[in-house]
Amino acid sequence: MKNITTLIIGANSEIAKAIAQQIVNEEASHLIVISRDTSFYNQPMFANITTIEVDSYLEAEISEAIKSIDSVSTNKQITRVFICHGVLHNQTCQPEKRLEDFNANTFNEIVAANTITPMLWLKYLVLILGGKATCKIIFFTARVASITDNKLGGWYSYRASKAALNMLLKSATVELNRRAKNIKLVSFHPGTTDSPLSKPFQRNVPEGKLFTSEFVASQLINFTEKMSINGELSYIDWQGKPIPW
Ligand SMILES: NC(=O)c1ccc[n+]([C@@H]2O[C@H](COP(=O)([O-])OP(=O)(O)OC[C@H]3O[C@@H](n4cnc5c(N)ncnc54)[C@H](OP(=O)(O)O)[C@@H]3O)[C@@H](O)[C@H]2O)c1
Repeated sequence: MKNITTLIIGANSEIAKAIAQQIVNEEASHLIVISRDTSFYNQPMFANITTIEVDSYLEAEISEAIKSIDSVSTNKQITRVFICHGVLHNQTCQPEKRLEDFNANTFNEIVAANTITPMLWLKYLVLILGGKATCKIIFFTARVASITDNKLGGWYSYRASKAALNMLLKSATVELNRRAKNIKLVSFHPGTTDSPLSKPFQRNVPEGKLFTSEFVASQLINFTEKMSINGELSYIDWQGKPIPW
């Protein structure tokens, strides 16, 4: 009997798809996926999930999607949310190698996708996650967001967008401790994982350090289960180990 709900946002991400493929087999959880492209979920194995397709991640669309989620999840409390957005490169943006590459348009685009969009989801999710059931919200960030760990430089926009997300999540954690103690926020680094995001940068990854999305998904699902609701923002990697801020 499906009496809880899991939500995957940015569900066309390679890692998101692997999470969905594992969660769809869980007896207790209904699955809702949200993406600009839900075609992956047309497969028979996903026949009983709810898919919500959006055109973009503008605030009005996020607010509408949250209303749909709320109506679908009535009586099935949302206990896990995976927010997977992350852009490192696309047709118009490449990660910067040096200061001369820094560009306002790229910075705005990367921050919109990696920082503002996840934060807007949190803003509206909090409105429907009240109540007694606990909920863990996992935000995909990256180790390169760590200021302490930044020994290589470069990737200005991507690093800054994920570091900014960490700071926003820290402030949100303080606020949620006052108004919604049932919610736990997690900033998660999956490790270098084989996906469109990492594809152009896989050449220098040491042997055994390029993970499959299936491996990362199973690590994450396992330690999400064990994680306690402790009023702290966790910034952790694929082993569940804390990353220095
Ligand atoms: N792969 C790695 O090696 C690696 C390493 C460290 C951190 N990460 C992080 O892990 C997460 C998942 O990465 P992945 O490797 O699975 O990436 P991916 O397959 O390239 O997926 C890209 C994700 O970004 C979303 N996205 C793309 N353009 C967007 C835009 N303009 N606005 C908002 N969202 C947009 C996509 O949403 P739709 O579903 O709508 O397409 C999808 O969720 C990301 O946050 C990434 O930064 C990955």
